[in-house]
This record gives sequence, C-alpha cells and structure tokens, in this order.
Amino acid sequence: MNEGASCAANSQTSHDGVKTDVARARWSLLRQVLRGKRADNPEVKQASVRRFATFELFGRTRPASHDSSEEQWVEYRSVFSPDYSAFLRDNPGPLRVSEVLNSFDNTGNVCVWPSEEVMAHYCLRNRHMFKGAVCELGGGMTCLAGLMVAVCADAKEVLLSDGNEQCVDNVREIVERNERAGKFGSTHVSTRVLRWDREPHVAAFQAHFDVVICADCLFLDQYRSSLVGAIRRLLRPNGVALALAPQRGDTMASFCRLAGQAGLLVDQRRQYDAQVWDVHLKMLQEGKEAYDENLHYPLLVTLSKGAQA
Ligand SMILES: C[S@@+](CC[C@H](N)C(=O)[O-])C[C@H]1O[C@@H](n2cnc3c(N)ncnc32)[C@H](O)[C@@H]1O
Repeated sequence: MNEGASCAANSQTSHDGVKTDVARARWSLLRQVLRGKRADNPEVKQASVRRFATFELFGRTRPASHDSSEEQWVEYRSVFSPDYSAFLRDNPGPLRVSEVLNSFDNTGNVCVWPSEEVMAHYCLRNRHMFKGAVCELGGGMTCLAGLMVAVCADAKEVLLSDGNEQCVDNVREIVERNERAGKFGSTHVSTRVLRWDREPHVAAFQAHFDVVICADCLFLDQYRSSLVGAIRRLLRPNGVALALAPQRGDTMASFCRLAGQAGLLVDQRRQYDAQVWDVHLKMLQEGKEAYDENLHYPLLVTLSKGAQA
C-alpha cells in the first residue's frame, strides 16, 4: 500500500504487486517509528505528502494545560457530531527495537489508520445501534471507534481489545484519562489483550457481545480465518458485527467468503455514510495521485448469525 505514514501501509495482500509495495512501505514506516519519527511528525509528513492518511472526520487539539504530563494528549472531537470528543494518546513515543522484535504484530502501534477513524465516525452517526455489550477487536493503540461508542452510546459495557500488549497498555491509559474526565457516563469500559487465534481469549467471552466492531483487520492472511471464528463465537445469537476495511486486493472478498462458509450472513456496502462518500468522490474527481480506492476506501461489512452459525 503506497501510504507510508498513512496507516494502511501495513497491509499484506495476496496480490503480489501490491504485496511488494506494501511490505516496502510498511518497513519504511516502522523504520521511521523506530527512529522516533511518529506519523504526525512533520519530518514524516513531509516524506509522505502525497499519501492519503485521513478522511478528516475528527479535529485534533491539544488540551490547554501547563502540566507537562499532558503534553502527549490530544482531544479528538467529531467534526460532524461536535458534542462528542475523547482524549487520546496517539503518539506514545518511539518504539524500542526490542519491543518490535519481541512483540506481536505492531501495525496498530504506529498511528490511527483511516478505517478506524471512519469506524469511529460511523459509530457516532449510528449510536442507536450500540446497546448492551460491545467489543472492539484489533483496535490498535487507541481503539478510537470503541472509545467513541463508550462516549456517545447507551451501551452497558464496552471492551476495547487488541492482540498487541503495547497497544492495550496505551488504551488502558486512554480509558483512565477519559474516565477521570467523566466521558463515559454509566457505560463500563474495560481493556484487554484479546487474540483472535487464542482459544482461551475467545472462550472467555463466548456469545457475550451484542455488537463487535473491527477496523482494518482483514488484510492479515494468517489471522483472517481466526478473526471470522472469533467474531462468530463472541456474538450473541442476535448480535451483529461491523467490519470496515479497504478492498485491498482480494483480502476483503476472502474475509467475506470465509464468513459465509462459517454460516454468517454477510452484507457488504460501498456507500454507507454521506460524509465519507463525499470525501471519496472528491478524491476521485480531483484525481489525487495519493488516493487509490482499492487501498484507501473502507467498505462496510455487516455480519450476523444465520440459523446454523
Ligand atoms: C492495521 S492495525 C489496525 C489497528 C486499528 N484498528 C486502526 O485501524 O488504527 C491491525 C491490528 O490488528 C491487531 N491484530 C492482528 N492480528 C491479531 C490477532 N490475531 N488477534 C488480535 N489482534 C490482532 C494488531 O495488533 C493491530 O493492532
């Protein structure tokens, strides 16, 4: 994925041409991060000026404070639902080489990818959908979408999860920060390492969730079927899962095929939100070189349990 500092750079697709570019972009981005140049660092931005990074659905401001511990925090406020905001630490400092080498998949430790931003926006716009127990899978270092559910919806509980421990450590601090700021109302918010491919992780929440969400998690060839399995097991009989991800070669189609084979009902949509669609059309009309629908435009897949699932 020709995205460098824009986060979808990390995909591995089974489309060979895309795969080579993606691997190159991914290592280049990780190299920048290891050197302490985060994706919002101007030096990195300059290097990726032709790359698509955001649908601009959230404003990002620093809270006014003289406290140096506040320096890493930013407030994400929805542009289209400005009553809702959350504090995020989306730049927890350089990753150590040992962390990268010893920890599980680091793609969520780099930045908030555009699909996560779009998912957060979609959740805000459709907040009536989120009742009961909600889980975000593979939420990366911020779980922005699940966090927005906790901020805006009437959910009883929200579990924010990822398979990477560093991501979850950061999300834990984000939750504490937002709890102190009184952002969650009566919703109980928790965090945990939840690996889709680890039986005990999934078994602990068997048939527990009314809604499962995940963004930009379908490109991992080695984990796609475990993601489908985890979603099927985590959902209650009437539950629904929302997955947002770009088409990216045949990765989206492959996920939908696997979900169908697992007995889930699959509904895929290209046009699901007016603002996101407008940005997409604008990018196409302006012929932006950096924008490639296949790599950047997230499709929405809704999964629900059929009779046999
Ligand atoms: C491209 S990142 C997306 C992160 C976030 N959703 C976003 O869009 O900003 C993919 C995420 O999936 C997580 N992941 C990959 N394989 C996983 C697995 N088997 N179990 C749980 N999480 C996994 C990674 O740790 C990473 O945070």
